[in-house]
Amino acid sequence: MEKSDRRKFLKQASLLVGTGICVTCASSFLNSCEQDIIIPPVPKYTGKQTIPISGALANDYGFLEYSFSYYLDGKTYSKTILIVNEGGGVFQAFDNKCPHWGVPIAVQASSKDIKCSVHATLFELSTGAVKQNGSGGALNPLGTYTTKVVGTNVEVTFGDK
Ligand code: FES
Repeated sequence: MEKSDRRKFLKQASLLVGTGICVTCASSFLNSCEQDIIIPPVPKYTGKQTIPISGALANDYGFLEYSFSYYLDGKTYSKTILIVNEGGGVFQAFDNKCPHWGVPIAVQASSKDIKCSVHATLFELSTGAVKQNGSGGALNPLGTYTTKVVGTNVEVTFGDK
């Protein structure tokens, strides 16, 4: 092989390898968009929180973002849940994180669903199950917690499911 042919051959080979790497990278990026991200685990909070039923939470399909901190193994963690008044005196409590990318969720009162606005996934209001996947949205249900109405408060229990 002559010197100019060798140079031509090496140039074409490097282009092929480069293209292969780009296709592999693009493919793995696209695949990652189709899956829920793995949210790093934090020690599970076990306990109860008591939240007054007032303001927006007092209305059917009203909801409230509720945040609190807890201390475990020498560290402080924070947690945010979404409490929803489903109507008829029934309340639901969910992790306020879309299982897809971990972003906050909200109630869509018009369809009585919970919605993640990023990829339009709809979750069942009464269970947190995925109702409609949107455009490549969440595959897994929302984390749920046990609720109980105690007087004028809703008590949310963690760690029993
Ligand atoms: S971030 Fe994709 S559906 Fe929520």
